[in-house]
Amino acid sequence: MEKISEGKTKEVFLLDNDHVLLRFKDYVTAGDGAKADIIDGKGVLNAQTSALLFRLLEREGIETHYVGMKDERTMIAKRLNMIPVEVVLRNYATGSIVKRLPIKEGEIFDPPIVEFFLKDDARHDPLLNYHHMRYLKLMNEEEARYIEGIVQRVNAVLTKVVERLNLVLYDFKLEFGRLGNKLLVGDEITLDAMRVREPQTQRILDKDLYRRGYPLEHVKSAYEEFLGRLRNVV
Ligand SMILES: Nc1ncnc2c1ncn2[C@@H]1O[C@H](COP(=O)(O)OP(=O)(O)OP(=O)(O)O)[C@@H](O)[C@H]1O
Ligand SMILES: [Mg+2]
Repeated sequence: MEKISEGKTKEVFLLDNDHVLLRFKDYVTAGDGAKADIIDGKGVLNAQTSALLFRLLEREGIETHYVGMKDERTMIAKRLNMIPVEVVLRNYATGSIVKRLPIKEGEIFDPPIVEFFLKDDARHDPLLNYHHMRYLKLMNEEEARYIEGIVQRVNAVLTKVVERLNLVLYDFKLEFGRLGNKLLVGDEITLDAMRVREPQTQRILDKDLYRRGYPLEHVKSAYEEFLGRLRNVV
């Protein structure tokens, strides 16, 4: 099968003209690839987490690229023309926003803040506004506003399910792609792209563990625990 692209955490194969296989690798990376390691089985955990969350979104009427699973680490997806933009929704302040702006760790955003970033590791994924996105032919303002609406709907679904796991959804990142005249949620929904914490203890269960230098086994067990809890509620 033809490999059409490969990123840090997934390989993309052309299944047929309209479908791709996304094979989740065991790599974990941070700092735009500056730090990288292998966690055995992480690809399976992320593929399974993504599959459950995409199915949940579909059940809630949000259109995604998800079609099914080929094997435990390989997703069958609609082939999208991906927009190289990361769309981030923040419910609580943490990560890059507290470095960039005079905002303190843990501040609550109500309503949530939505941000767009260019996928460009060499430039450290710079923040984009509607003007930049139009000029760079990424999307026009109408599409950006449509995507903001989708991201808010995804937030409502994910916030609720994460709450049922007795966790809090701090933020998450989505990527979108075009299929004909439609914009669909693509890529992945995993702990690599989402921050979740235990409310009482502030315990972290996401890729921040890796960013902060926790042992790889500790990172893996957090991913396993999240998936285990998720399987009990969806
Ligand atoms: N439905 C889809 N159709 C086509 N390509 C897709 C689809 N979903 C995701 N992709 C693309 O798959 C590629 C590989 O994913 P991966 O996450 O490994 O790479 P990346 O996002 O470029 O790098 P990284 O996430 O490590 O910064 C990405 O370019 C992503 O946009
Ligand atoms: Mg990616």
